[in-house]
Amino acid sequence: MQPFAIAPSILSANFARLGEEVDNVLAAGADIVHFDVMDNHYVPNLTIGPMVCTALRKHGVTAPIDVHLMVSPVDRIIGDFLEAGATYITFHPEASQHIDRSLQLIKDGGAKCGLVFNPATSLDVLKYVMDKVDMILLMSVNPGFGGQKFIPGTLNKLREARSLIDASGRDIRLEIDGGVSATNIREIAEAGADTFVAGSAIFNQPDYKTVIDAMRAELAQ
Ligand code: DX5
Ligand code: ZN
Repeated sequence: MQPFAIAPSILSANFARLGEEVDNVLAAGADIVHFDVMDNHYVPNLTIGPMVCTALRKHGVTAPIDVHLMVSPVDRIIGDFLEAGATYITFHPEASQHIDRSLQLIKDGGAKCGLVFNPATSLDVLKYVMDKVDMILLMSVNPGFGGQKFIPGTLNKLREARSLIDASGRDIRLEIDGGVSATNIREIAEAGADTFVAGSAIFNQPDYKTVIDAMRAELAQ
């Protein structure tokens, strides 16, 4: 199992001063910057692209940037995110015509690759790419918006994914995304997650460190 990591989703940050928001949340103890890319096609919302990732790197962000692609098609945007300095690039299998090829494109570009599963999407496809993926991301809400409620059925799915990872013997991160807060983070960790995306739970509070400390305290129990 990978060490626990907290990955604030900048979807809920103040975009008018994004660099400062990312600096603040990292100074508050975040491990990874979760970067939600939405295209108003695969999901009904439109957010940020590779230029913003480049801007964060130029601003001086050295922490891992975890690019969650909610776009279709997938392949033509991968190269831009590789150049922009993404650390992880994940995509939804149903958004790619050729899943193995998309994963390989990411790996060949030197980033870590992963697949994202919506609440009702089966994990079956993993069977064929377990030797490639560095991250498995389970959505605990339907993708598109921050501030939604955690879907409890995801806990069983996390257990399923955790067994697949353990059986593979590989160091694959198991990330959870949607409705995560200090209140439910412990049961989510107990179900097998090691990487926790949280958007509204962190950015909607005035003091990011208080929230991140509370999450870590729950994880330490
Ligand atoms: C939803 C995004 C999430 C979102 C999570 O499609 O992938 O990363 O920002 O937001 P919260 O933590 O508010 O549910
Ligand atoms: Zn996300």
